[in-house]
Amino acid sequence: MEKFVINGGRALDGEVAISGAKNAAVAIIPAVILCDEPCRIENIPNISDVTLIGRILQEMGAVVKRVNKSTLDIDPRHIASCSATSELVRGMRASYYLLGALLGRCHQAKVCLPGGCNFGARPIDLHLKGFAALGARHELVNGAIIDVKSEQKLHGNNIYLDFASVGATINIMLAAVKAEGQTIIENAAKEPHIVDLANFLNSMGASIRGAGTDTIKIRGVDYLHGVTYSIIPDQIEAGTYMCAAAATRGKVLVKNITPKHLESISAKLREIGCEIKEYDEALLVDASKMPLNRCNIKTMPHPGFPTDCQPQFTALLCTVDGTSIMNESVWDNRYQYVSELTLMGAHISVEGRLAIIEGGSRLTAAPVKATDLRAGAAMIIAGLCADGTTEISSIQYIERGYEDIVGKLTALGADIKKVYFEQSADQGLRA
Ligand code: UD1
Repeated sequence: MEKFVINGGRALDGEVAISGAKNAAVAIIPAVILCDEPCRIENIPNISDVTLIGRILQEMGAVVKRVNKSTLDIDPRHIASCSATSELVRGMRASYYLLGALLGRCHQAKVCLPGGCNFGARPIDLHLKGFAALGARHELVNGAIIDVKSEQKLHGNNIYLDFASVGATINIMLAAVKAEGQTIIENAAKEPHIVDLANFLNSMGASIRGAGTDTIKIRGVDYLHGVTYSIIPDQIEAGTYMCAAAATRGKVLVKNITPKHLESISAKLREIGCEIKEYDEALLVDASKMPLNRCNIKTMPHPGFPTDCQPQFTALLCTVDGTSIMNESVWDNRYQYVSELTLMGAHISVEGRLAIIEGGSRLTAAPVKATDLRAGAAMIIAGLCADGTTEISSIQYIERGYEDIVGKLTALGADIKKVYFEQSADQGLRA
């Protein structure tokens, strides 16, 4: 059992280097399955989701070697099976990319239904509609395994997505990259990691145009050659540190980033009164000079404000005077963490997709839990601002997506520690 223990009340100050993007890594690693030669992937974040997807590939027969903390060599040539049904697959959301990658490689995929964070219903109907358009039928086996296959080679088609789903766009790209003819995805998602995946596939010899726009055109190819590829910086990790700097009224230089990916976040921080200075690959957030103001935010697919920064901003808005309204338009149940924030003295009421945040009162320390990955980041931000010692449990969610968060925050002046607890029959939890 592990917890984070935070003594709050210190403004963050200094520099933080952002790791490679989790959501790009968990798409690019399975995409190596499509390659006909070994690949080297650099700037991989050292997080548990990456370890898990690497182990899943190993179970399938790939040779996965860690060259150093942020580099993996993956040789997919010995993958013999087109199924991924072990317990590991259930442990993460992005394991559903194995469907598209295996379908693209062997026209068949048997993959367990994915797990991951719980934001309410997380259907994959758009992924399956895309596969069907490419000629693959699916069935659900025992309510737990999706079996999708095509009798012949997949064929390109025009696919319109009812919603610009990140997962469906990626899965269709993976399945279509070696299909016969041209696939066109309309109303495609435009998140930075979609462009990163397309760049990776193109560097191996794929023919994908339009990634980052509403329309992606994929012309199928027969062979993908091995490459060395470096993953983009993590937009959401950067957004989290920007938010933590603002919430603690600190001054932080966020390095190793692409400022363009952070425009919606920078815009909201400027609106509430932070000073933001952009450099080529860094960005300075200064909240130390002026009082901050309330604002309203609506989460949207990229280039809108990212839903994955919604909990962190809610925590930030608790610390500024006035009433702010958060509108979550992507997920139907992404406020489970609000009850944890209210334990710390936050005044937030949730009405459907809206959270109404009455900011300005001091947050006070409490034992709270991370209800999911980004919710956990919000708890850390609240703990950094709160009076007293906050204890955060269920930190395994946080470690799915943040590399060395304790080290990075400590270097910025935070007082945060990871504490190990032993379960004892008579004493309950003991540090
Ligand atoms: C990805 C991210 C997640 C982020 C989300 C939105 C990864 C591994 N995860 O999740 O962190 O919060 O994008 O930016 O990259 N939908 C359907 N049918 C489908 C697919 C999606 O109705 O077949 C709906 C979902 O219920 C949700 C919305 O579309 O309401 C967005 O989902 P999607 O963009 O697919 O998110 P994920 O790819 O699962």
